[in-house]
Amino acid sequence: MVKSGSIGVLLMALLFGSGDFLKMERGFVAGRTNVTEQCSMLQPCNVYGFTDWYKLGSVCVKYFNNSLNFTEAEFSCRTQAPGAHLVSVHKQKHNAELHCIVTTLNPKHPRIWLGAFELFKSGKFLWLDGSYWDYDNWNIGQPSNLYTNTEECVEMNWNETGKWNDRGCHNKENYICAFKLNGILKPGSEEME
Ligand SMILES: *[C@@H]1O[C@H](CO)[C@@H](O)[C@H](O)[C@H]1NC(C)=O
Ligand SMILES: *[C@@H]1O[C@H](CO)[C@@H](O)[C@H](O)[C@H]1NC(C)=O
Ligand SMILES: *[C@@H]1O[C@H](CO)[C@@H](O)[C@H](O)[C@H]1NC(C)=O
Ligand SMILES: *[C@@H]1O[C@H](CO)[C@@H](O)[C@H](O)[C@H]1NC(C)=O
Repeated sequence: MVKSGSIGVLLMALLFGSGDFLKMERGFVAGRTNVTEQCSMLQPCNVYGFTDWYKLGSVCVKYFNNSLNFTEAEFSCRTQAPGAHLVSVHKQKHNAELHCIVTTLNPKHPRIWLGAFELFKSGKFLWLDGSYWDYDNWNIGQPSNLYTNTEECVEMNWNETGKWNDRGCHNKENYICAFKLNGILKPGSEEME
């Protein structure tokens, strides 16, 4: 009797646990609000297995409500999809869409890591995905710690929504990952197309 009782408890714990997990996953993926509705310019990513990501120009992106330091966040992105990195931003429209995703899914904690960092103490920023530094959206007075090794990583939504700030890489923030649509290795192909 004791034995079957504890199995019952175990079963209930398992069922309850998995139910909770599923609910969390669904809430996490779809959000309590429909992001494609809120952020009218967004479409779901049309890649098999990644339809819970969003299409942003030539990349697919996904928000992770998972507070990590910059390094951990980048390594996390690399495990999420082939060729994925922390997101890079190249135009105002995409900056606005990223901002919309974050404020729709997590309005109270909108700060996120972007995939940019100052290379050593050069005063120059690079994107982790190797793309050109051809756009920025710094807040007034930012970046404030060039040529030092105190604030070498880049976040969005500090002080003013959508604006960027340089911040110490050890800080933990949520983040957005991105992978290039044409960077996916096609089955049977040995080349990246
Ligand atoms: C979100 O809204 C869009 C546009 O109205 C709709 O096509 C889509 O099915 C909705 N998705 C969910 C998960 O409700
Ligand atoms: C994000 O995570 C925090 C802390 O784990 C939690 O309180 C919050 O509800 C989560 N938000 C969303 C949108 O999942
Ligand atoms: C935001 O930035 C402006 C301009 O630098 C500054 O005046 C203001 O105090 C900042 N606000 C916060 C909350 O840091
Ligand atoms: C990021 O977190 C990892 C794991 O906790 C830690 O080993 C690493 O030193 C941290 N990196 C920074 C820059 O703080």
